[in-house]
Amino acid sequence: MSQHSWLNQKRVILGVTGGIACYKACEIARELGRLGADVTVVMTKAATAFVTPLTFQALTGNTVRHSLLDPKSEAGMGHIELARWADLILVAPCTANTIAHLARGDATDLLSALWLAADCPKALAPAMNQNMWANPATQANLETLRERHTLMIGPDSGLQACGDVGLGRMSEPSIILAALESQLQAGPLAGLTVMITAGPTHEPIDPVRYLTNRSSGKMGFAIARAAVRLGARVLLVSGPVDLDTPDGVIHIAVETARDMLEAVKSTLKTVDLFIGAAAVCDIRPETVATHKLKKTTSNLSMLALIENPDVIHQVALSEERPRLVVGFAAETEMIETHARRKLEDKGLDFIIANDVSNGQIFNADDTKIQLVSHSHTEEWPQGSKEAIAEQLMQRLSESLLERTENGTKI
Ligand code: PMT
Repeated sequence: MSQHSWLNQKRVILGVTGGIACYKACEIARELGRLGADVTVVMTKAATAFVTPLTFQALTGNTVRHSLLDPKSEAGMGHIELARWADLILVAPCTANTIAHLARGDATDLLSALWLAADCPKALAPAMNQNMWANPATQANLETLRERHTLMIGPDSGLQACGDVGLGRMSEPSIILAALESQLQAGPLAGLTVMITAGPTHEPIDPVRYLTNRSSGKMGFAIARAAVRLGARVLLVSGPVDLDTPDGVIHIAVETARDMLEAVKSTLKTVDLFIGAAAVCDIRPETVATHKLKKTTSNLSMLALIENPDVIHQVALSEERPRLVVGFAAETEMIETHARRKLEDKGLDFIIANDVSNGQIFNADDTKIQLVSHSHTEEWPQGSKEAIAEQLMQRLSESLLERTENGTKI
């Protein structure tokens, strides 16, 4: 048992609902205990079809609860006492059905009754088929729970038990625990949502070719890691990159600028701080050829290009504008002048200017930035993207807090 972990002596209700990911709940239960938590597992009836209560009893050393009307259990610690006992409720895996119950405020089984009665922090790790995840009913239920400050962890995308490939697979136990830690460690961004765009976009020419740029995504991913460490709920919308998703981050992978705009708009309502680190292609081929273009003169000279939507400008203009909107400016000359113009033209609160001439910055591990606000410009020393991201997130969380306290931007 780790005496110094953030979970030491914490009393955790681990809700387990009926999905194939139940087997991963065993690892979560064991890891919570190893980190010093006192864990009581509460199972839905459906969950007992996947894993027996005895397994969780052996892992936690505590009685497993699964019935609201069990006289023996109620004679012990009744469900209201259990709700008062908990420092945290984590439901993992959390099925679409349970999400619906929790959003409606049902108290039809022990888990939903505890969720309703407890006033401790609550978190859930969704696990379901990709179509169930995408269903507007599920998304509406999740939105309701987010508005009640439920910490959502995941889901991941990938191969699902049903054979589908897509978003809906429960996050790995290590990611769930990392996300809980960042939330419960109560950093300056705890309870707030940060959305970051990162990487390039790919604008298809034909099935084989596309327009893109040199962005690797490293800057945006470093910012996402820093935001998680400060306790934020982090939504990372990235074009195609070759980077692992940082622990505790909800990653939304897109390809084109238009995909990115759609992904951003779909969850902008919940966002407090938006950071546009992505190198979004400003242009795209007017038409995408259905077959690989042959190297005829006309094909090569007739690649008509049209303008892509400006994602961050639309964020800034949105009725759901986040309290703080921060952009990046990739320039090769007159850096501050051009960056300041973008700050004004795009309606941003800050812009981070970087000189990308001579192949620097893109895909590099180091960077050098100027932090440009409406009132002044701060010249920051060269540093690693990780270190600059950490300082930048500290700086922006202070600015966000000022706005919240002054009420200027609520
Ligand atoms: O990803 P790395 O390899 O780590 O490199 C980091 C970086 C150089 C990509 C990063 O530091 C950076 O400068 N990102 C912004 C690149 C860019 O597109 O700059 P811009 O000046 O063209 O765009 C200005 C702002 O508008 C940016 O916030 C950009 O995300 C946003 N934008 C631009 C065009 C568009 N269609 N939609 C947008 O949202």
